[in-house]
Amino acid sequence: MYLDFNKLSSDQVYFHIIQSLIPRPIAWVLTQNRNQSYNLAPFSYFNAVCSDPALIMLSLGKKPDGSRKDTLVNIQERKFFSLHIAHTELLPALNQSSATLEYGQSELDDLNLKLCDFAPHPLPRIQTCRVTYACENYQIHTLGNTAQHVIYGKINHCYLDDTIITYQDGGKIKLHADKLDPVARLGASEYAGLGEIIKLQRPA
Ligand SMILES: Cc1cc2nc3c(=O)[nH]c(=O)nc-3n(C[C@H](O)[C@H](O)[C@H](O)COP(=O)(O)O)c2cc1C
Repeated sequence: MYLDFNKLSSDQVYFHIIQSLIPRPIAWVLTQNRNQSYNLAPFSYFNAVCSDPALIMLSLGKKPDGSRKDTLVNIQERKFFSLHIAHTELLPALNQSSATLEYGQSELDDLNLKLCDFAPHPLPRIQTCRVTYACENYQIHTLGNTAQHVIYGKINHCYLDDTIITYQDGGKIKLHADKLDPVARLGASEYAGLGEIIKLQRPA
């Protein structure tokens, strides 16, 4: 079948995109609220966009009441965020952190997650996550008829857990995807782990 996206509502387009553009990586984003508590939320409209500078993008819609999501408010006001790649064991906590809460109420209050220092980044990171990026706001673009906010974040440094890496000849770091065990978003309430890893050399 063919779908004419120009004739569909934004809800219908969203529904089709999230089911077909899969699997999507998930950014698990920690920011700081005005009252100093920490906000945590997952976003799967997320990817890498540039290596110089090192940039990722997140695309945020609105809260059900039409107001800005807390993550956007915090990044606009305090610019820094810690972006985690969660492993499959953390999926229940990641899912729970997507609850819509009042601004200033921390998702971490109900989650059994330990934070640790991530200096020189001003925010902590979730200790158990195996990859975390220390990011700051680079640019925010507002686009679309329903005002989607695209946040470009500059990665200043990165934490890689020692259990997921080995050193190759010449000191190059090999990250073992199976040991990272990232969780991916599919459509609706479906998620996926990595499944089979296929190795294939690129043509010259
Ligand atoms: C796996 C997953 C991925 C999500 N991806 C997005 C996304 O890309 N953009 C978005 O606006 N909301 C996304 N959401 C919904 C937000 O996580 C949710 O609105 C959350 O309450 C936002 O929190 P905040 O207001 O604290 O920033 C996603 C939810 C889940 C469970």
